Amino acid sequence: MVVSERQAAMLKEMGIRLWRPPVPDAASTSPLQADAVEAAPAAAAPVPRAGTEALRPMTPPAASDAAPARPGREAPAPDAEPVAAVSRPVRLREPVAPVGDPVGGVAGMGWEALEDAVANCTACALCEGRTRTVFGVGHASAHWMVVGEAPGEQEDRQGEPFVGKSGQLLDNMLAALGLTRQPAEAARQVYIANTVKCRPPGNRNPDPTELARCEPYLVRQIALVKPRVILAMGRFAVQSLLRSNEPIGRLRGRVHQFEGVPLVVTYHPAYLLRNPEDKGRAWDDLCLAREVLAQG
Ligand code: URA
Ligand code: SF4
Repeated sequence: MVVSERQAAMLKEMGIRLWRPPVPDAASTSPLQADAVEAAPAAAAPVPRAGTEALRPMTPPAASDAAPARPGREAPAPDAEPVAAVSRPVRLREPVAPVGDPVGGVAGMGWEALEDAVANCTACALCEGRTRTVFGVGHASAHWMVVGEAPGEQEDRQGEPFVGKSGQLLDNMLAALGLTRQPAEAARQVYIANTVKCRPPGNRNPDPTELARCEPYLVRQIALVKPRVILAMGRFAVQSLLRSNEPIGRLRGRVHQFEGVPLVVTYHPAYLLRNPEDKGRAWDDLCLAREVLAQG
């Protein structure tokens, strides 16, 4: 992959170094490497969510392989739990509230009705503390769909997802791939939405009831956008879309599916701001998603 000056600058911003193979004949196709040291690969287990299967389970080389095909692809934290080499079921989130239809007819709504329904939604307690609902931003038929967690203070004020510090990092990550959320700038690039549309008070985590109540809106957004790949950032996006409570470190590095759409799991930008040593892994995840797009 050729990295432009601008992309190189973005990668630097993300804390990712350009990498050259240490030996001239190393079988490398990637100019990038995570800051972290290579470690054991993640499991190549498909996720048995109802109605979904792994599109193309990743089978990274064993840790002992001398020349991994794609350096920097997978590097679990040194203290990560050992991962099984065989498929195993993912624990499902307990259904704590009916995952239904908060206002009726959501599954059949078009963009305008959906946005309106969210703007007026009182289906969970988060409606009480919000300044504005935060619906989503980007191209309505984007190829990439990024799913975050919940609006924070800035998002609650501005009504747009990821406009605070996490958003700056997300924009840098997208820019490193040559992508933008601006719908006018380049066609069909990115649509960004959150798992819940209203800010939890004090930025607390959304609770399972709130997640369940808000979920149909996200599901409908995905159905309308029809993305070619979903990037699920952080554990709440993963809980909603994959019904999994597994840590991100165990789900990333392979391709899952959400209702037929390839889904790649990665760290939430807020986590990356606190744990910059994992930015390299996040970059690997973006590259995996890009590969999915290139193949699809
Ligand atoms: N974090 C998120 O998950 N979403 C936002 O919109 C902002 C921060
Ligand atoms: Fe409605 Fe979602 Fe806001 Fe709850 S978080 S009030 S379900 S829009």
